[in-house]
Amino acid sequence: MDAVLANFPEGVISFRRGAIRTANIAFCRLFGRTRSQLIGRSAEAVLSDLSFAPADIAAMLSDTQGQADDIDLVRMAAGRPPQDLRIRRFTIDGEGGGTLRALAFIDETSWRATQRATEVLVEELLRADRQAALGEMAMALAHEINQPLGAIVNFAGAARRSLTGRAVRAGELDEVLINIGSEAARAGDVVKSLRSFLKGAPQPSTDACVNAAVKVVLGFAEPAMREQCIDFRLSLAPDLPTVRGDQIILQQIILNLVTNAIQAMGTQPLGHRHLDIRTTREGRSKVRVDVRDTGIGLPAELGERIFEPFITTKVNGSGLGLSIARTLAQRLGGSIEAAPECGEGTRFTIRLPCRGGDEVADA
Ligand SMILES: Nc1ncnc2c1ncn2[C@@H]1O[C@H](COP(=O)(O)OP(=O)(O)OP(=O)(O)O)[C@@H](O)[C@H]1O
Ligand SMILES: [Mg+2]
Repeated sequence: MDAVLANFPEGVISFRRGAIRTANIAFCRLFGRTRSQLIGRSAEAVLSDLSFAPADIAAMLSDTQGQADDIDLVRMAAGRPPQDLRIRRFTIDGEGGGTLRALAFIDETSWRATQRATEVLVEELLRADRQAALGEMAMALAHEINQPLGAIVNFAGAARRSLTGRAVRAGELDEVLINIGSEAARAGDVVKSLRSFLKGAPQPSTDACVNAAVKVVLGFAEPAMREQCIDFRLSLAPDLPTVRGDQIILQQIILNLVTNAIQAMGTQPLGHRHLDIRTTREGRSKVRVDVRDTGIGLPAELGERIFEPFITTKVNGSGLGLSIARTLAQRLGGSIEAAPECGEGTRFTIRLPCRGGDEVADA
């Protein structure tokens, strides 16, 4: 067994009655020690020399029987960068001489750093997708924000005119000021929801409201739909239960579908551009969102491949929208499906488990 351990890629020490018996090459390399600095010494003293915290040493040396449980810890040694370690404990029942114990040390520093970097990248990708999904809607939206600002300027002008050259009765300006206030609030709301959508860091474990997400997305999309003469029907089920997830993630899923729907209708004749969004409760445990358009229809030759990354039929498409939307829906325990609409156009259906839905279904 010593021969096997000697060539183990993980750093291994074995010890009996607290004293180190063997230490393999990987262990010496990992911690910068020679064998002679280790063999025969107390395992506790060596681990303490290696700057492991007393509580971690106690966990590594605890003699709970039959354990194969791993310990994840960060080793902080003076003058060295923090080291992410996974430590596996072994017990080998030996003949005579007492039980042989061993600790295997796996250095996961670079793996965990990669993991963290990947998480950051995914976050960035999702943010880029949110920006892309808003795409051409952004111009129409900017225009939308300009409208209340213009109204405020007009109201303020009217107020000034009514003030010039005469005494103003208390309360006379009230209406104008109220209008100014509500127009400013309207512009502020659009900016606020845009900011949190573009910059917000999603919190995947909170409660989310599907109807509210649909309304925010329609707020973003409405100016562009008006510009492109798309009429929309909205049918939101009252008392829809919340779903597991995050509001921004929900908005991102729905916005990707709505963006596709708008794009699919861009070349349809005027009067044939209808978007229909419907939320319903499906059974006891699911919330369903249908996004139906009267656009050009799905590319039949692609089938399910439209959900794969980089599959696009658009000149400026990245082909990521549906792939991201499906991945996000699956992360929330749900699904997205596409089907041709009878007549013309396409229907996308999102299904998401509602909060506490499983318990209800199981009851
Ligand atoms: N509502 C729809 N009607 C018709 N075809 C659709 C619809 N939604 C998606 N598709 C098809 O699926 C393809 C993939 O869509 P996806 O959203 O993943 O990428 P994209 O829209 O092409 O690019 P991106 O979303 O990255 O800008 C589209 O190029 C289009 O061919
Ligand atoms: Mg798209």
